[in-house]
Amino acid sequence: MSKIVVHGGYSLSGEICVGGAKNSAVALIPASILCGEEVLLKNVPNISDIGALEDILTSLGCEVSRGDHSLKIDSSCMVNAVIPCDLSSKLRASYYFMGALLGKYRRVKMCFPGGCSIGERPINLHLKGFEKLGATVLEEDGNFTIYADKLIGDDIFLDVPSVGATINIMLAAVLAKGKTVIDNAAREPHIVDVANMLNQMGAKISGQGTSKIEIIGVDSLHGTEYSVVPDMIEAGTYVIIASLLGKGLKVSGLVPEHIESLTSKLEEAGVHLKVGKNFIQVDEVSDYHSIDIKTMGYPGFPTDLQQVLVPFLVSCSGTSHIEETMYENRFMNVPDTVKMGANIQVNDAQFATIYGKSELVGKKVEATDLRGGASMIICGLIAEGTTVITNVGHILRGYEDIVGKLKKVGAHIEIEE
Ligand code: EPU
Repeated sequence: MSKIVVHGGYSLSGEICVGGAKNSAVALIPASILCGEEVLLKNVPNISDIGALEDILTSLGCEVSRGDHSLKIDSSCMVNAVIPCDLSSKLRASYYFMGALLGKYRRVKMCFPGGCSIGERPINLHLKGFEKLGATVLEEDGNFTIYADKLIGDDIFLDVPSVGATINIMLAAVLAKGKTVIDNAAREPHIVDVANMLNQMGAKISGQGTSKIEIIGVDSLHGTEYSVVPDMIEAGTYVIIASLLGKGLKVSGLVPEHIESLTSKLEEAGVHLKVGKNFIQVDEVSDYHSIDIKTMGYPGFPTDLQQVLVPFLVSCSGTSHIEETMYENRFMNVPDTVKMGANIQVNDAQFATIYGKSELVGKKVEATDLRGGASMIICGLIAEGTTVITNVGHILRGYEDIVGKLKKVGAHIEIEE
């Protein structure tokens, strides 16, 4: 099992380039099978979640070829096979094959998806959406069979603006008969990305990026070439690192508006950010003071940056508060952060109070989940001494070459097999 070893306390300078968004790419890949022609995806991140989706595509008979940050998917010979459970359980986003296969073949059979254990993560809203379109959903011990004679557009209200449900319903509805309206839809940049690619393939989707998305069903879609939007969470992670250790550290290739909920908070804490058209730079680190955050759907503060922000809050003087509203189990990084010297109290799995400022000391810690793992890397970068992070497979699922990117700007970090 690999581990990451970090020797902390070094300033970072130079440039880190942000790649394509994981949570967009993992939806664009299943979306591409809706046409039965060739789709060329560009700016695809080199992360293990993409490899897991490639295996699913291959199991369905698609021809897949990987280039340098590109993925060519030819679904002209695909078959509607049952996706093996050991493949779908590798990642959360396998659930997008439910919408895509239902939309394309009117029938899909697969198991409950995998992913980080950050909470219960039900998929009831995805299933409710499929049922509204006319599908029957059968479930037995986590195995789903979803089928329909025909899919007919309808008005679908989401109880909560779920990213996964919004995308999955779009995937099922693009080839349905008539008009589907998704109300209280999620508004994340990756939702806009999926709608934009489907439109390039011939779909008729409007309202993406707002809470009401309208989809007029079409008879067929065609192949396309599409570039994945920059990863707002990877961007946010490096901007947090720059705020803590930057000495002329530029994070480039990002869309600053996508992480305004983060940058406005960092500025409130006292960080001086130089914001350009597609970069954010920190020239000098100073003393920061406490802030409060509450996780929300886009454009609010993303839950995926909550854990990553913890080392920053530990470094602020005063008392900071976190309210986590999305997941019941997203403070798994806190015990190891406390072990390194932080003073954090978690109440009711939803609230955390961080009493700063604490100096961290390197320890042996664990990546409990993807973003919790990134948080431990940041703790290691700011700590005195050596931090050893185990179970790093979680981190590699979602951050492309995080060790190489940090090393290039002066971090003392290694990955060891
Ligand atoms: N929810 C329901 N029912 C549903 C679906 C969601 O109650 O049918 C609830 C969830 O329990 C949660 C909230 O709605 O409380 C939001 O969940 P959402 O569906 O938006 O999340 P998701 O689709 O499971 C995606 C990302 C997550 C990210 C969330 C929120 C992918 C593959 N995953 O998950 O990414 O945290 O949106 O932005 O896109 C990560 O990258 O680390 C990660 C966990």
